[in-house]
Amino acid sequence: MVEFKIERTTTPTSAEQRQALMADPKFGRVFTDHMAVIRYTDEKGWHDAKIIPRQPLQIDPASTVLHYGQEIFEGLKAYRGKGGAITLFRPEANAARFAASARRLSMAELPEELFLGAIKELLKVDHDWVPSNPEQSLYLRPFTISNEVFLGVKRANEYLFIVLASPVGGYFSGNGSIPVWVSETYTRAAPGGTGEAKCGGNYAASLLPQQEAADHGCSQVLFLDAKERRFIDEMGGMNVMFVRKDGSVVTPPLGGTILRGITRDSILKLGRKMGLTMVEEPVAIEDVFKAAAAGEITEAFACGTAAVISPIGEFRRESGSVAFGDGKTAGPVTMKLRTALCGLQRGEEPDPFGWVHSVSL
Ligand code: PLP
Ligand code: COI
Repeated sequence: MVEFKIERTTTPTSAEQRQALMADPKFGRVFTDHMAVIRYTDEKGWHDAKIIPRQPLQIDPASTVLHYGQEIFEGLKAYRGKGGAITLFRPEANAARFAASARRLSMAELPEELFLGAIKELLKVDHDWVPSNPEQSLYLRPFTISNEVFLGVKRANEYLFIVLASPVGGYFSGNGSIPVWVSETYTRAAPGGTGEAKCGGNYAASLLPQQEAADHGCSQVLFLDAKERRFIDEMGGMNVMFVRKDGSVVTPPLGGTILRGITRDSILKLGRKMGLTMVEEPVAIEDVFKAAAAGEITEAFACGTAAVISPIGEFRRESGSVAFGDGKTAGPVTMKLRTALCGLQRGEEPDPFGWVHSVSL
């Protein structure tokens, strides 16, 4: 077990201030007092693990991340259940995906033990920031940047791993169903590209189409496959699922161009356990417009760590829009899956999968 050096802040946020900050934190604007940091060099491997006060980084302007974008990240949450206990949901799956992203970006792979250790040590110091409001959680953002000082284009030999923690509410403002813009101009990932990796570059490339979505009054952008522009891939920051009239749930398959969402995988397994028919198969955008208009597809939802399960009200594109159900309220299958998933994540429901980690402080 690697020892983390703990350096606590001398100016902690008071309980009163924290309460005010956490009253309505929204997403990603409020941060805890500390962060986890681990350094890597080719000579020493991963070393210098510590928990320190959250602070600005000092990096050389020639650090390779600033030029060639070797950056990967993860997103997971710490939950506080009804009894006050803190849980993590499938954090080893995030560790595995983080290692896979590192391999794709040719970065140093962080061992699972260090990934989990950094999160648990940070939670020991900042556990007061895990909200007890069931609509909130503590979002954890592990990430790695390359910080070799060099302008040549090559794999860096130095990296910095950091974990930030941020109390959050819902990702989307408002509680209603979200409108989603179907991008027919831009694509997110091509076969052989980095679509399956959780790297900053994928998100940078999604911002212009995301802005196009916002210009059309939409909260997220939906990407189609890069080859034929025919099949649905995923959204800018979440996977997508559809509910058919017969109650079955369908989602596009993994194939290298979409993120292997841990929420997606959990919903597939949980749904099957609940007796639902869960299908992974290519979903053509034209079929969705027709089936939703004909009432054959009755619900659609976004799923991800930040999004949890968010109902989609409609798809919009240049030639028109189509609503799912009444276009406003979450459908029954969406709600049933959401309730089951959230209960499990918070340690409030039995966990037949062994997914929930209790955090000992
Ligand atoms: N797809 C993209 C592009 C994402 O950014 C995310 C969020 O992490 C997801 C899907 C959902 O993944 P997960 O459920 O593991 O959070
Ligand atoms: C997450 O859900 O953790 C993400 O990284 C997606 C982003 C929209 C915040």
